[in-house]
Parts: sequence; structure tokens; C-alpha cells
Amino acid sequence: MSNKILKGKRGIIFGALNDQSIAWKVAERAYEEGAHFVLTNAPIAMRMGEINKLAESTNSTVIPADATNLEDIDNLMLKSLDVLGGKFDFILHSIGMSINVRKGRDYTDENYDFTMKGLDVSALSFHKVMQSAMKHDAINEWGSIVALTYIAAQRVFPDYNDMADNKSYLESVARSFGYHYGMAKKVRVNTISQSPTLTTAGSGVKGFHEFINYSEAMSPLGNAPALACADYCISLFSDLTRYVTMQNLFHDGGFSNTGVTKEVISKFSD
Ligand SMILES: NC(=O)c1ccc[n+]([C@@H]2O[C@H](COP(=O)([O-])OP(=O)(O)OC[C@H]3O[C@@H](n4cnc5c(N)ncnc54)[C@H](O)[C@@H]3O)[C@@H](O)[C@H]2O)c1
Repeated sequence: MSNKILKGKRGIIFGALNDQSIAWKVAERAYEEGAHFVLTNAPIAMRMGEINKLAESTNSTVIPADATNLEDIDNLMLKSLDVLGGKFDFILHSIGMSINVRKGRDYTDENYDFTMKGLDVSALSFHKVMQSAMKHDAINEWGSIVALTYIAAQRVFPDYNDMADNKSYLESVARSFGYHYGMAKKVRVNTISQSPTLTTAGSGVKGFHEFINYSEAMSPLGNAPALACADYCISLFSDLTRYVTMQNLFHDGGFSNTGVTKEVISKFSD
């Protein structure tokens, strides 16, 4: 389905690692809707080479950048302005990583070097990207910036570990920067709180498969798939959502407002 609702729009998409990545689906949908964009990921992620396939199929340019490195981000902004032929209209921040999760460290036994690195990659990077975009005046008025988050920012999901804290910080940055960017340049900033989704980042969380089934049973519409998340991103990049900013928007099939479902209760009957 394509209505070309991003026709003439330009952007940067962070975080397409492989065809399961949410950012990958966003890139495919943005291309279908007529957008022109730059793809970026950490230099280390480039080694797998898959992003080049996406660049080919979406007629886009790849510019590597470690989203924690200010020099890389500035270089990305300047090169993107050049490659895209002017200011752009949207940015997708689809980046997350916890070394504590990866190394199996419990929340009550964090390695704080790991914690700081995870915070930098998953949350502070969002601030860095927006600060650089603002400094280079890289985004058009009514432009739209979206980051992806998870409900563990508001409620406890024990195995999500320090990513919960990272997501709280990320959502706070969206509100605060959204205020400043809105005032200065009418640029919108939002986070989308997505259902658990089978991707490289998602499946790193302990007990993910059981959890995804639980979440499915707790969501009146079922878990939202990655492609549907991409559709929601497209709507936020479009002109149809011009007054939506500084929000955390749940895209979760109703999970966030459900106390319990009959399906889950039935599992406790004797
Ligand atoms: N999968 C889920 O269940 C789920 C649910 C809610 C929110 N999210 C969020 O969606 C976003 C995308 O994750 P995904 O599920 O598509 O997984 P993914 O593993 O495909 O994407 C994560 C991306 O982060 C990139 N990255 C890591 N370190 C980086 C760095 N230093 N600089 C630049 N990029 C870096 C990786 O290379 C990768 O492309 C993340 O913010 C994640 O927390 C995922």
C-alpha cells in the first residue's frame, strides 16, 4: 500500500541491521511512500554488509556513524545535507543495546562501565543526534524525529534490566528536546513504545520467547508487528501528524491499558 505521503521528504534512518530490524521496515516503507534518505549504522554493524542490500533496493546512501561519537554524528549531518541536497524532514532513531543484558548481569549486579556504555548508546545518543541536527540547522520546519522505546520505561519487566532505565531517559529526552526544538524550529519529537518484536536487539532479552507469547495474550489486538510499527513511523514523518510532539505513543495492540485478559486468567484455573 503506497499513497506517496512522504513524497519530496528527506531523512536519516538509524539502526537497520538486518531485514528483521524495525528500521529496515521503516526504510522500505519510507521508500514506497516517496522519501529519499540516508541509512546509517555503527561502523561495526557495516561489516555484516546487509545494509548495502537495503541501500540498493531503496536507492539510498549509507553513511556509517557511531551514534555515541560526536564527530561521527556531525560528519553524518554534514554529509547527509550534501547527499540529500538540502535540509531534511525526518530522523528515525532505532538504536538500543545493553552490555549488562548481553553479558547476563543481573539488574542488582550491574557493571557500571557496561551501564554507562548502554546509556550512551541507547539514550544519550538521541540527545547527541538532535543537538547536532539543531547546531547544523539540518531539519526543515515541521520536521519529525522519532525514537523507539518500550513500556519497561513505565512498568517493571525484570529481565529488561538496565534497558528500562535507558528507555526512561530516552523518553525524557524526547519531551525536553521536543520542547526546545518545537520552540526554536517547529520540529516535532516523539517516541513510539512498540510491542516486543523478534529482532536481534529484542531476542537478546532473557526469556524473550515466553515473554512475547505472554504479551500476545495480554494485548486485545495481539502484538504489533515490525511492519505495522514502520507504518506508524511513516504517519509521524508525514504532514498528517503536524501537531503531535513531545509524546510517548504506545503502539502495542492495547497492552499498555490492559490489566488482564480472560486468556491469561484461564491459565490459572485449577
Ligand atoms: N525488538 C523489540 O522487542 C523492541 C520493542 C520495543 C522497542 N524496541 C526498540 O527498537 C529499536 C530498534 O531495535 P530492533 O528491535 O529493530 O533491533 P536491531 O538489533 O535490529 O536494531 C538495533 C540497532 O542499534 C544499532 N546500534 C547499536 N549500537 C549502535 C551505535 N553505537 N551507533 C549506531 N547504531 C548502533 C545496531 O547496529 C542495530 O542496527 C531499539 O531502540 C529497541 O530498543 C525494540
